[in-house]
Amino acid sequence: MMKKLLTPLAMAALLAAAGGAQAQTVLKIGYATSPTSHYGVGSTVFCEEIEKGTSGRYKCQQFPNSALGGEREQIEAVQLGTQDLVNTSTGPLGNFVPEVKIVDIPFLFRDYDHARKVMDGPIGQDLSKKMEAKGLVNLAWTENGFRHMTNSKRAINQASDAAGLKMRTMENKVHMDGYKTFGILPTPMPFPELFTALQQGTVDGQENPIPVILSSKFSQVQKHLSLTGHVYSPAALILSPAVWGKLSADDKKVFLEAGKKAAAAQRKKVNDDEDSGIALLEKDGMQVVKKVNGESFRKAVAPAYAGYAKEFGADKIAAIQNVK
Ligand code: PAF
Repeated sequence: MMKKLLTPLAMAALLAAAGGAQAQTVLKIGYATSPTSHYGVGSTVFCEEIEKGTSGRYKCQQFPNSALGGEREQIEAVQLGTQDLVNTSTGPLGNFVPEVKIVDIPFLFRDYDHARKVMDGPIGQDLSKKMEAKGLVNLAWTENGFRHMTNSKRAINQASDAAGLKMRTMENKVHMDGYKTFGILPTPMPFPELFTALQQGTVDGQENPIPVILSSKFSQVQKHLSLTGHVYSPAALILSPAVWGKLSADDKKVFLEAGKKAAAAQRKKVNDDEDSGIALLEKDGMQVVKKVNGESFRKAVAPAYAGYAKEFGADKIAAIQNVK
């Protein structure tokens, strides 16, 4: 009799234990653009990989389209532990980790190969350590892409064509100092406010990579696109230290590996959008200047490099430029 009574109890205890072992943690991940954008592609790969690698103990709930706020707010929430993850550009990151600002210098990187090599190499690893010291665990350098200018007023063929345009910029002093040398009037504004600002003419233009211009449908509110590629915009997949601290050594490996795969997928999507997106934007009615006079922009920004050298050290800038 006793045996008959105990068996179901033991069974219940066993089931409870099994249930406990399979307890699921749902992590909130936020990003600025749509689920099908480069950030969405990278974040989805990350979420699939952690779910697979931890046999479902960890999964994500995704919050695309700035549903959790602007990037600055989301970084702050991750630092505080009220949000678990953010896939964000470095634009506002320098407000938390000043050393990161160096990667936002205009015309610092030659091309995608150069930028990815720097971010994945010792310089990027060193910046990740600086982030960790400020309570931000960088799982991987993902990517936003080279930024290009759009506006509603005129074609930009050279730097002097940009002069006088009121352009929304990120809340990033390194960008703004550089862009002022082009003669534009930089207007810092959180991204979630941008579409309406363009629509209502509060600003004449903005600058962002092709994947953002595409996924945010800026062709509906901007006539001109110029492939200025004036600055590379890195991005980071950042985890809250509150979550990182609770992970086992094995789970940490799973998260880091998932970060690498996410970065690869996000970068591939950036490449794909660069390859096919310009034709799509033209089809949507945008007038695209493909052969911009890059030299005119480089020449304009040269004086700003004195300020950058003072802030970051000429040797540090040269160390990035010299990565082959
Ligand atoms: O322009 C920005 O603020 C950023 O490029 C964006 C669109 C939020 C993506 O990181």
